[in-house]
Amino acid sequence: MAPPLQITALTAERSALALPDLPWDAPLSRWPAETLAALPRGISRHVVRFVRLADAVVAVKENTEELVRREYGLLRVLRRLDVPCVVPVAVVTGRTAPDGEPLDPALVTQHLQFSLPYRALFSQSLRPDTATRLVDALAVLLVRLHLAGFYWGDVSLSNTLFRRDAGEFAAYLVDAETGELHNELSDGQRSNDVEVARINIAGELMDLEAAEYLDESVDPVEVANSIVERYHSLWEELTGLESFEQGERWRVQARIERLNELGFDVGELAISTDVGGSVVQIQPKVVDAGHHSRRLLRLTGIDAENNQARRLLNDMDGYIAATDRQNDDEEIAAHDWLAQVFDPVVRAVPRRMRRKLEPAEIFHEVLEHRWYRSQEAQRDIPLLEAAQAYVDEVLSQRPDEQAVILQTGLMDTGQMAAVGMDPDEAPLLGASGPDDPDDPESDRIDGWLSSHG
Ligand SMILES: Nc1ncnc2c1ncn2[C@@H]1O[C@H](COP(=O)(O)OP(=O)(O)OP(=O)(O)O)[C@@H](O)[C@H]1O
Ligand SMILES: [Mg+2]
Repeated sequence: MAPPLQITALTAERSALALPDLPWDAPLSRWPAETLAALPRGISRHVVRFVRLADAVVAVKENTEELVRREYGLLRVLRRLDVPCVVPVAVVTGRTAPDGEPLDPALVTQHLQFSLPYRALFSQSLRPDTATRLVDALAVLLVRLHLAGFYWGDVSLSNTLFRRDAGEFAAYLVDAETGELHNELSDGQRSNDVEVARINIAGELMDLEAAEYLDESVDPVEVANSIVERYHSLWEELTGLESFEQGERWRVQARIERLNELGFDVGELAISTDVGGSVVQIQPKVVDAGHHSRRLLRLTGIDAENNQARRLLNDMDGYIAATDRQNDDEEIAAHDWLAQVFDPVVRAVPRRMRRKLEPAEIFHEVLEHRWYRSQEAQRDIPLLEAAQAYVDEVLSQRPDEQAVILQTGLMDTGQMAAVGMDPDEAPLLGASGPDDPDDPESDRIDGWLSSHG
């Protein structure tokens, strides 16, 4: 007798409750279009599909039972270690077709909202330095994984998802299948991962070059090589031993501030002096990423990427200074900033455009836009006026990022293939356009906005 269908899910994931409703008795590649969500997807060996489930979207990937369980377990640990990666939801085994034929087990993860595979980024109009910014983001992710003792084994742009982060990118691990967790990585293991990254990135950028997606000024090999330097300098800054004379105590503070600037918290610092006590050595022991994100979350409940958070906090600190509130309780002042500054800007965006970008990224872009407009006009443009101009002049022209490429018109079949979409899914794409106010998705984002605002 065939084994029964078994779903092992994390109870904290509400979407898990609706999992039994999915057509597990059919191979993923043949799931009906009504169940699928057409969102951009990177290239992969295994079949991956996005599925609407209750009020969320999940990614389903078919693989062998061993690898599905392994990846599920690794993702759970990585989440606990606070590493940016996709959130595991469930493992589904014991699948059989109606004729009794066994089907591959599946791994279910939460779809990472507003995330983009790198290929989708290159099919939009981009700044020429996009490739470099992606590599920078990947270097930060790799350092964070290595600090946590995770050896990735298959570092590449395809196995990473990118979210906008105040003009930069933040990288998330999406494919943990080849990973290994250790107490600590050796220098050799770390170098190995960096080398794999370098080779894969070069290949991936050459593919884009061949398909004419890459700006001519970009040299794939040079960009790929830059990951080595970026990775090592960041690693050195985070973990390196620094020596100085007894009288230079300020250096300790300077080191901590530099790390904070990079978005890392120093949990513990090893300080030692030599026998005579004249030379002091410091080395960060515990470095925790997400310094600005955590402060913003604590003060306002807004969950943003680190650079976005820094941008928002700067604006908040400016507001606190301008309103002479430095001596007030920080949380109360933050709440007022939220109500009087942040919320009105987000609300200035018409509902139908709110899926284009995350609220924190919109706020960041409005600040940029105000700066440009103020320069042009040679006067200070009020924030709400800038927000209105931004909506009219910039946002209305942008593709919808929460559901990029929902409209078939935005891509031809070649471009769809480039972002790993099956052109056969196209009929679904136009079904509910990004600017459709009746689209239930808009309400979902509204709920998100209000719970975060
Ligand atoms: N939770 C998720 N959120 C958003 N996108 C996802 C998610 N899970 C998978 N994807 C998309 O699906 C693609 C393929 O996933 P993944 O890399 O895990 O597949 P794979 O077959 O194991 O890849 P490989 O060929 O490297 O072995 C990813 O690049 C990503 O674009
Ligand atoms: Mg992959």
